[in-house]
Amino acid sequence: MSCSRIASFVYLLTLASLLQTAFGLFHNCSDTGSFSAGGPYEANLNQLIEFLSSQTPPSGFGRRAIGQNPNRVFGLALCRGDVSSEDCKTCVVRAGNEIRKQCPYKKGAITWYDDCLVKYSNIGFFGQIDNQNKFNVWNPNKASEAFSRQSEGFLSLLANEASANPTSFYASGEILVHRSMKIYGMTQCTRDLSISDCKKCLDGLIDEFPKCCNQLEGARVFSGSCNFRYENFPFVKA
Ligand SMILES: *[C@@H]1O[C@H](CO)[C@@H](O)[C@H](O)[C@H]1NC(C)=O
Repeated sequence: MSCSRIASFVYLLTLASLLQTAFGLFHNCSDTGSFSAGGPYEANLNQLIEFLSSQTPPSGFGRRAIGQNPNRVFGLALCRGDVSSEDCKTCVVRAGNEIRKQCPYKKGAITWYDDCLVKYSNIGFFGQIDNQNKFNVWNPNKASEAFSRQSEGFLSLLANEASANPTSFYASGEILVHRSMKIYGMTQCTRDLSISDCKKCLDGLIDEFPKCCNQLEGARVFSGSCNFRYENFPFVKA
């Protein structure tokens, strides 16, 4: 490859990662109703997003219900366990703005970015495992059966570790599988769940490992309440 072709390749990669940061990984607009422009639900939603943008960054998690029925809105934001407060804030602000453009006038929506998750609804959802909203991102490279079994086993350990620690509900780590080959993993739950529901949520995702992730070198599996990621390269930021 010539220098300029390498440069444009690098440029495209950078552009792709910027676009991913700007638009997020996935979103879902809920069908629990619509609100009208300038009405009380919109005012509560604006207040909620503002609250989450300032309350989430210090600890990586924020949640609140704002307003009275029938205009009450419930929301939460969760940042990846390894992002800085600054990146957390950037992510929640961006996600909060974008999701309202992507799901205009919808009373409920959820969006995932690389660094954070933002969810809101007119229907209370705190403390309930959200299995409805779900998606995966794959590393399509093929891995061996042995690598898959070890990845699944390692994620189960990380699920135990994350759920045992309710102040963060987050765990990450690496294991050596073969000579110099390592598996890197992370698990995380939203902090409105109980310890047992965090474990149940993660175990539920990991149970599907043979379906979602068999013989893949890496994958990220997200639900509205928990997620895991494993790769054969380091990806944890801090
Ligand atoms: C999107 O949300 C609807 C409910 O609002 C749910 O039934 C569906 O499974 C969700 N889709 C995904 C891919 O998460």
